Amino acid sequence: MIFSKYIMGWPSMINRPQANDTAKPKKNISTTSVGSLTALKTFSARSQMALQMSGGPDTIAPLLIGNVSLFGPNIPGSYFFTHIYLFLARCHYYLTGRMFADQLAECCFKRVMRLGEIACLQARTCWLDDVVDTFADENKGTQFNVVILGAGYDTRCYRLRSITKKENIHLFEVDAPGTQQMKRNALKHAKIECSGVHFVSCDFEHEDWMKCLESQSNFNHNLPTIFVWEGVSMYVDREVVISIISQISRCAVGSCIAFDYVFSDCMNAALKKSAEKIGEPWKFAINFDEVENLIEECQELTQRKVALRVLDHLRKDEMKKRYLAKYSNGNHVGYLEEFGAFCLVGI
Ligand SMILES: C[S@@+](CC[C@H](N)C(=O)[O-])C[C@H]1O[C@@H](n2cnc3c(N)ncnc32)[C@H](O)[C@@H]1O
Repeated sequence: MIFSKYIMGWPSMINRPQANDTAKPKKNISTTSVGSLTALKTFSARSQMALQMSGGPDTIAPLLIGNVSLFGPNIPGSYFFTHIYLFLARCHYYLTGRMFADQLAECCFKRVMRLGEIACLQARTCWLDDVVDTFADENKGTQFNVVILGAGYDTRCYRLRSITKKENIHLFEVDAPGTQQMKRNALKHAKIECSGVHFVSCDFEHEDWMKCLESQSNFNHNLPTIFVWEGVSMYVDREVVISIISQISRCAVGSCIAFDYVFSDCMNAALKKSAEKIGEPWKFAINFDEVENLIEECQELTQRKVALRVLDHLRKDEMKKRYLAKYSNGNHVGYLEEFGAFCLVGI
C-alpha cells in the first residue's frame, strides 16, 4: 500500500490519459494508453524477488523489466529512472537486508514487516504456478487451453516448462488494450519468443471477454481450460466477477479458474482512495465465508448444466505453510497480511 501510494502514485499525475482516452470519465487507467500501473508494481515486485532475494519463481521478470518504464510511458527519461530505481532498491536491500517499502510501512503500522508485500506476491505466484502445473499434468498429452486473464506482465506462458512451446497446449493472454500494448512492446524489445501466445485485448467491464477471446483468436471452448485471474477481481464490479466465473462453464468439463480477492473487512476508505488516485479504483471485495454464496450466484448464470465447485480455498495460514520458508527459529521468512484469499473453482 505504501509502495503504491508513494512510489507508484505520483506518475499517474503525469501520465494523464491521451485525449482520445478521455471519452468515458473515471475509466480504469489500464484500458487507456497509459496502461496499468498496478501491473507494473506487481511485476517489479516479482522481478525484485527474483533478482535480490536469491530467486523468486518469476525468472523472466528480470529480463523483461529493463524494457518497461515502471513510472508509466509518458515521462521523458522514465526508462533511465526505472533502471536507477531498481539499482537503488537492490543496493538498499544488499546493505540493510530489508526492503525500503517494509521499513516505511513499519514506521506507519508499528509492526515488523519482512518482505511484506513481496512475500504475499511470491506466495500468490507460487500457488498459481502450482495450479497451472497440476492442470497441465492432469491433462498431459491432450489438447487444452491456458488463459491468463488480466495478464499484465505475467510471464507464465514464457517460463512454465509444463506449458511453454507445446503443440497440444494453446496459450492466451487477455488484458486491457493499454496494458497489453506496453507488455507486447517490452516482450519485443527483450527479444522474448512469444509467437505461440495469442494476445486478446478486452475491457472486462464493457465487453464480453469470452466473445473477444473467440473473435480475436482460435480459442476453442470445447477444450478443457485453465483460467488464471491473478490480482484483477478487485478492479471490476461484482456483476463482472460473477459473469467471469460463470463463463468457465462454457468450456469442457475439467476446466477451472484460479483467482485471488480482497476481504471486504480490509477494504477501507484509505485504501480505496489511494487506488482511485492512481486511476485503478477498487470495486470488489468479499469475505472468506461469503465465497460459497458467490459461487451459487455464478451457478445461476451458467448456460450449461454443470456444477461449479470450489476446489481449493486458501487464506494466510495455509499460504504460509505451503509457500514461505522458515528460519531455524520457526518463524516464516516473510510477512503475510490477512488481507484476502485465493480460490480455485472448477466444473
Ligand atoms: C494488478 S494488475 C495484475 C496483473 C497480473 N495479473 C499480475 O498479477 O501481475 C491488474 C490487471 O488487470 C487488468 N485490468 C484491470 N481492469 C481491467 C478491465 N476493466 N479490463 C481488462 N483488464 C483489466 C490490468 O490491465 C492489469 O493487467
